[in-house]
Amino acid sequence: MIRIKTNAEVELIRESALLVNRTIAELAALLRPGITTHQLDQRAEEFIRDNQAVPSFKNYRGYPYATCISVNDAVVHGFPMRKELNEGDLVSIDVGVFKNGFHGDSAYTFGLQPVAEAHQLLMRVTRASLELGVEKAIAGNRIGDISNAIQEYTERKHHFGVVRELVGHGLGKQLHEDPQVPNYGKKGTGAKLRENMVLAIEPMINLGTKDVIYDADGWTVRTKDGKYSAHYEHNVCVKKGKPDILSSFDSIIAQEKGNAQLFSDY
Ligand code: MF3
Ligand code: CO
Repeated sequence: MIRIKTNAEVELIRESALLVNRTIAELAALLRPGITTHQLDQRAEEFIRDNQAVPSFKNYRGYPYATCISVNDAVVHGFPMRKELNEGDLVSIDVGVFKNGFHGDSAYTFGLQPVAEAHQLLMRVTRASLELGVEKAIAGNRIGDISNAIQEYTERKHHFGVVRELVGHGLGKQLHEDPQVPNYGKKGTGAKLRENMVLAIEPMINLGTKDVIYDADGWTVRTKDGKYSAHYEHNVCVKKGKPDILSSFDSIIAQEKGNAQLFSDY
């Protein structure tokens, strides 16, 4: 069942989503070769709790950390680890917070300098595909219009792999609500989008094959061919004419630009 939000509920989701983005921005300031993703996770949890919120992911279906940090060939759901990051790593940070009864859920992929050209393109294309998907979150469109926009751009135009096993989702009182939002599909299919539906749109794009495998930890999803992967996620409220993007990368991009250890397109 798809839950339509009231305007007041949408504002609470916006507050949670922006706190997620500020949390990721905090981590962007710390990112450098030598830091461990476990240290980043601890800082994230502290920052979230200091802001009167709780990490949505911790204990979600038994997930043991506040964040998912997926490095290089890890696609999503990577466990924070006590292993130091290196130059050239791609670090995808996915954070959820629960505050005032509503979740926010957003992700961003960083590159530790120097970043290979192919990986720069992967990041750029994945972020652009998110923007193309978000643009379709308009009342009267269908879920498949979002899915198709992402797939056409990444697969047909750039020949990257669109992960099939994991999808975007509705967002609200629950972290994962209906409908599912796949990153592949046909235009004009799936649930019709109605005003004040809130969606988490999150393309997971691989440089090589779309196929993935699970680590022995039962969570970490990796590319089958070991090539790198990128992941960006926005929370979007469906509106007539133009979507309302509840999350924002602005605070993250400001830190990314200010941190010389990070690749930035901006
Ligand atoms: N953004 C991810 C998702 O929507 C986060 C869930 S990770 C989990 O699936 F740890 F909470 F499972
Ligand atoms: Co999500």
